[in-house]
Amino acid sequence: MTKKLLGIDVSTTGVKALVIDGDGAIVDSYTTPLQLSNPKPLWSEQQPGDWWAAAVNSIQHVLRETNAGDIAAIGLTGQMHGLVLLDDDGAVLRPAILWNDQRCATECDDIRRRLGKERLIQISGNDALTGFTAPKILWVRDHEPEVYGRARHVLLPKDYLRYKLTHEYAMDKADGSGTLLFDLERRDWSNDVLESLEIPAGWLPPTFEGPEITGRVTNKAAQATGLQVGTPVVAGGGDQAAGAVGVGAIRPGVLAVTMGTSGVVFAATETPLIESQGRLHAFCHAVPERWHLMGVMLSAAGSLQWYRDALYPNVSFEELVSEAGRVPAGSDGLLFLPYLCGERTPHPDPLARGSWVGLTTRHTRAHLTRSVLEGVAFGLKDIFALIQSVGLKEIDQVRVSGGGAKSELWRQILADVLESELVTVNTTEGAAYGAALLAGVNAGVWPDVDTACSQTIRVGDRVSPDDTNVRRYAELYRHYQSLYPALRQVSHALSAFESDS
Ligand code: XUL
Repeated sequence: MTKKLLGIDVSTTGVKALVIDGDGAIVDSYTTPLQLSNPKPLWSEQQPGDWWAAAVNSIQHVLRETNAGDIAAIGLTGQMHGLVLLDDDGAVLRPAILWNDQRCATECDDIRRRLGKERLIQISGNDALTGFTAPKILWVRDHEPEVYGRARHVLLPKDYLRYKLTHEYAMDKADGSGTLLFDLERRDWSNDVLESLEIPAGWLPPTFEGPEITGRVTNKAAQATGLQVGTPVVAGGGDQAAGAVGVGAIRPGVLAVTMGTSGVVFAATETPLIESQGRLHAFCHAVPERWHLMGVMLSAAGSLQWYRDALYPNVSFEELVSEAGRVPAGSDGLLFLPYLCGERTPHPDPLARGSWVGLTTRHTRAHLTRSVLEGVAFGLKDIFALIQSVGLKEIDQVRVSGGGAKSELWRQILADVLESELVTVNTTEGAAYGAALLAGVNAGVWPDVDTACSQTIRVGDRVSPDDTNVRRYAELYRHYQSLYPALRQVSHALSAFESDS
């Protein structure tokens, strides 16, 4: 039998089912799109039932080409931090509150007050941010006491799919550490944090390392999906950790930069390193006994998407980006701030706002486009610099992936701004690929995650920084850095004018 591996990724925009073979080659991939609901300013929700329906559809699609009996193991991944609350019978109590929801700033203050910011960072590796799960739980307690009273289980998005597939409540350690309820060093729930926040420990599932088995496909799930009863489901990892496995960012020295809707800079570490003020996320890796540091900007390729949709909906990305290539580095003095959904790293501020600074009548559409690409690169540099400041100075390679990385111009701008060579890799299926590799380790296809990565992931194109642009961007970056503090107050004041509809 040829062993095949199934990776399932419940992202914010769709549920992907990806089948690979024992050599790591893609056999099939299918994504069912998902809708996002923003019922109020700052809110971002999805229905867990929609994830399951989309997963069933995507799995059924890939099983048209692949025999279910050939699937040796399934790995799960997905959007991190989202709060799924279930009652005693496993029924969903309210829509999931997602990673990009910004409603719980007050609850973050409450968490800092209860634990002390320093102690919180010491235990969990992280400051309280609106994106994380713990403040969302407190928000439900404060605002929806009836729902809270019936809650018995807390899961993250992909773990809801796990529950539907295996009937087990379980979570991987990478995603668990993104709840803010983890003891980073011990790689498990922190009683200190749980007690301080008065969250019942019994609501939280057991946690597992990425390649460990968490359950098997049940009869009911097999009937719904076409999968074979008893197929093992491994822990997998949150999308950032699984995505890092998928591009081979599993040891110090190899940094991963992802330019999806959000932008991420990810650095694997051998020990639980933390940034003392909690400006970087410090989480468990999906690789057993490894950790990582990470910074997230909320609107990376999302900035370009917004720009095109809002201003030039009838012009293709290719056309916009190609004309931006004809404008000099620095966009003739135009700077773009990409805080279109607030920001996380390095400015954890839901009310930060985007802007263009330096506009003149000489600026054309090409300048506007280029400044968006450059503003996103500067935002990623903020994170890159923070990671270097924590002591990770030896960076051998930066592996770039995600939709935005498909643009050669954007990759060049990023290399110039980061002052570092960038490489692409052959694997472009992101977190689902990493989840499938983790499943393969469990199935005995590879002895460990390092071997899985070294046997499947190859470096592709290389982009080197251009010396002249490096100097120009270094100067502009200083001006970029001065903008957030200068505009903070007015951005906060302006957010009060946003209407509810
Ligand atoms: C990571 C994060 C996002 C989501 C979206 O901390 O919030 O990357 O996982 O997919």
